[in-house]
Amino acid sequence: DAPETVSPTGTPTGAQKSANSQSGAYLTTAQGVRLYETDHSLKAGPRGPSLLQDHHLREKIMHFDHERIPERVVHARGAGAHGVFVANGAAAGVTKAGFLAAGVETPVFTRFSTVVGSRGSADAVRDTRGFATKFYTDEGTFDLVGNNIPVFFIQDGIKFPDIVHAAKPHPDREIPQAQSAHDTFWDFVSLHTEAQAHVMWQMSDRGIPRSFRTMEGFGIHTFRLQNAAGETTLVKFHWKPKQGIHSLVWEEAQLINGADPDFHRRDLADAIEAGAFPEWELGIQTFPDTPDEMFEGIDLLDPTKIVPEELAPVQTIGTLTLNANPTNFFAETEQVAFHPGHLVPGIDVTNDPLLQARLFSYLDTQLSRLGGPNFAQIPINRPHAPVNDMFRDGMHQSAVHGGVAPYRPNSLDGGCPFLAGEDMSAYIEVPQELPASMKLRESPASFDDHFSQARLFFRSLTPVEQEHVAQAYTFELGKCYEENVRIRQLQALANIDGELCAKVAEGLGLPAPAPTSTREDDVQPSPALSQLGKSWPL
Ligand code: HEM
Repeated sequence: DAPETVSPTGTPTGAQKSANSQSGAYLTTAQGVRLYETDHSLKAGPRGPSLLQDHHLREKIMHFDHERIPERVVHARGAGAHGVFVANGAAAGVTKAGFLAAGVETPVFTRFSTVVGSRGSADAVRDTRGFATKFYTDEGTFDLVGNNIPVFFIQDGIKFPDIVHAAKPHPDREIPQAQSAHDTFWDFVSLHTEAQAHVMWQMSDRGIPRSFRTMEGFGIHTFRLQNAAGETTLVKFHWKPKQGIHSLVWEEAQLINGADPDFHRRDLADAIEAGAFPEWELGIQTFPDTPDEMFEGIDLLDPTKIVPEELAPVQTIGTLTLNANPTNFFAETEQVAFHPGHLVPGIDVTNDPLLQARLFSYLDTQLSRLGGPNFAQIPINRPHAPVNDMFRDGMHQSAVHGGVAPYRPNSLDGGCPFLAGEDMSAYIEVPQELPASMKLRESPASFDDHFSQARLFFRSLTPVEQEHVAQAYTFELGKCYEENVRIRQLQALANIDGELCAKVAEGLGLPAPAPTSTREDDVQPSPALSQLGKSWPL
């Protein structure tokens, strides 16, 4: 099962390329039979009907009829590139992951995306961006499937279908293709106020990046690392672009979407082709793995919260360089299948309820998007580590498996070394004591603060950036036609920042409501957070 015909960057090479690249000296059918022409169907005379016996006609049209696969249910629009990740060893004390040891070079594939638009939508829309990286490590594949905004809309994955239904185009007219300028979106985020911090980031200049190359990336969830001694540390992952962080202004974005809807994918491909390889530093914020999984009053299992960098600095652990464009968009960028459950020894998940739902969702969606259970055999998805999974058969099986006994233990096909129980290089989930609890559908009280981080982010912006935020809310809410929804969103803004609320209300011609939140954190942020004031850097 080893990927003999895939280069270190995942690009098909050698035998596979020549077998698949359709570059033979003459045209053939899919069976390799030489054709003498392909422009006319076989007919009963020059003006007669086509004949059913024309196998070439039927085969050619049949294949064309099935060229499309479903687009991703979210993040359908994207662009990818191959590259390399070089670790500096700074994470070696907290994780035994081999690819994070000093000097180790790992081939990667990264895909950037918008979230809401369809495959053919424009690039420079106001939306969150995906930032997903597949590390083809010697210990198996690790995927870091993040976004360019460090907080998420919702706290529990069971609400993901709901937020996506609200954010996708209206079901009647399928307008708009971009996020945020419509009734259902504002209806959802004003009713589910946990979304307010994410929306504040979207309404800021971060919602319209200048280039994929000038975006940060965030793993968002807290992950649990484990070192060789078995010690654990909680971490959040950050990508920091060496190109700096740059955004468009709204008027630029509007013009660009009309003039060049492929602006971001063109920019990425052109830069790589020109040899201006974009680079990001990967960093981690580390937190002690305490039983309450809190840090400075912030619940580390709440994906709508950041931990400000003043409280936990980001430590650089390696550098990503994107240095090769895909040679075939469909084979690589479209068929790549990321999954937050693709983990390697030394990296484990936490009980963040958003992450827990993701662990089901990606495999499940890829089963239909990529046509059956064997999509790990598609070249871009093949691990660069040897595979011996005992999986057999199924739709689109392309491996010819050897042996007779795909089960362990067996006494027919040789030993079963990984059952010896002593091989510490295997993936072993970090044992975790679970608190005595009962089955229930509710969240902890620490998930109830919905406004303080939206406020923290807004107040950290410069006056010009704050003005952009006010304009963005006014514009987007101006496209929300239900007045009661606008009023409810103004109420949320009143709980975040009175001045911002007043500006947006004025722009919409509505009265500015008074704050209603009586939560203590809204009046009085935790001591560590309140000290940050306006100094929190972006
Ligand atoms: C796709 C990020 C939450 C379901 C993606 C992609 C990214 C991403 C970057 C695109 C991957 C690619 O380029 O192929 C995130 C982040 C989340 C989050 C950062 C929260 C922190 C969720 C949740 C669910 C979900 C809660 C469902 C319960 C999906 C699905 C896809 C997707 C179904 C399409 C995957 C495919 O077709 O291959 N997500 N997501 N995501 N996400 Fe998420």
